[in-house]
Amino acid sequence: MATESTRTFLPASGSVLNGRFQLEGVLGSGAEAVVYRATDSRGGRPVALKVFRKPADDGGQRREILIQRKIRQRGIVALRDYSHHADAEGRPEFAVLELVEGSSLKKILSAGAADPTLVISWAESLLKSLAYIHSRGIMHHDIKPSNILIPQLPAGRFSTEAKLTDFGIASSSAIPCTSSGYGTAHYMSPEQADGGVAGSAGDIYALGLVLMESLTGTRPFPGGAIESLLARTLRRPTIPSVLGRRWAALIAAMTAVEPSERATARQALHLLRRVQHAHFRGHLPDSVRDIGQDRHRRSLAPNGPAVAETVAA
Ligand SMILES: Nc1ncnc2c1ncn2[C@@H]1O[C@H](COP(=O)(O)OP(=O)(O)O)[C@@H](O)[C@H]1O
Ligand SMILES: [Mg+2]
Repeated sequence: MATESTRTFLPASGSVLNGRFQLEGVLGSGAEAVVYRATDSRGGRPVALKVFRKPADDGGQRREILIQRKIRQRGIVALRDYSHHADAEGRPEFAVLELVEGSSLKKILSAGAADPTLVISWAESLLKSLAYIHSRGIMHHDIKPSNILIPQLPAGRFSTEAKLTDFGIASSSAIPCTSSGYGTAHYMSPEQADGGVAGSAGDIYALGLVLMESLTGTRPFPGGAIESLLARTLRRPTIPSVLGRRWAALIAAMTAVEPSERATARQALHLLRRVQHAHFRGHLPDSVRDIGQDRHRRSLAPNGPAVAETVAA
């Protein structure tokens, strides 16, 4: 029989939580939670309901809620409300989040590289979001494609704005992270791979790898988790020359092995301006502008990515 700490709590679509939230289907899932599309009967508004798989036993969910409720930034999924267990600890059962009608970056990249024009604008919103949280002493610790959501516009095109989500292992100066070895192997910074603690520079590193993967369609450090982790403690990612020198300068600054040598979010935004200028003045090699365009166009076709998806963490 499942014990309290191993119990998983996954309500069926169609059920109503707290007499208020009608579940309409699964939007995605990760290691910690299943996220449902739901309608809030108070006001009839559609929302995303993040239902935690297990009752909180290490304060993790509580920390996620405490950190995310402090954040008000359009590039970060807004926490609207949360529901508690009826226990004395007040542990949350689910979080009510702003619904992002669209797709995770992970799903988009499963079809190959993304349109570089979009990657530039997603980089801008993600770097602004990192600048915002880092200036408030908050670190995300789990930047990866499945935690980045891209809204889809009514015409089927992807928004130029990216939204960061999942503060499940975030920390702040006021609310430190207690778990060790956090993060996902393929996007983990060298200092974390080495067993150390990552600061804000760890988020910059992970985003550097995500941007490179978005432009090329492949992970910068392939191979198994151990091989990939070891490689990044020894060297920077190899940036394909086809990306051009301005992207190379930005990604190199974000992925320096030494955290103290890495760009801050603000410095990276400055380097991104140079990528933008070159791109919009047509100075990038054509091959870069063409990367992934075909596959991307296909993904925007009428039968393009569905809103609902199941994404492994
Ligand atoms: N607000 C949202 N709107 C739409 N889809 C979402 C939203 N939040 C999460 N998802 C989907 O659910 C998946 C898992 O959510 P996440 O918060 O990352 O859970 P976990 O902490 O278990 O990793 C995401 O990758 C995404 O596909
Ligand atoms: Mg996640």
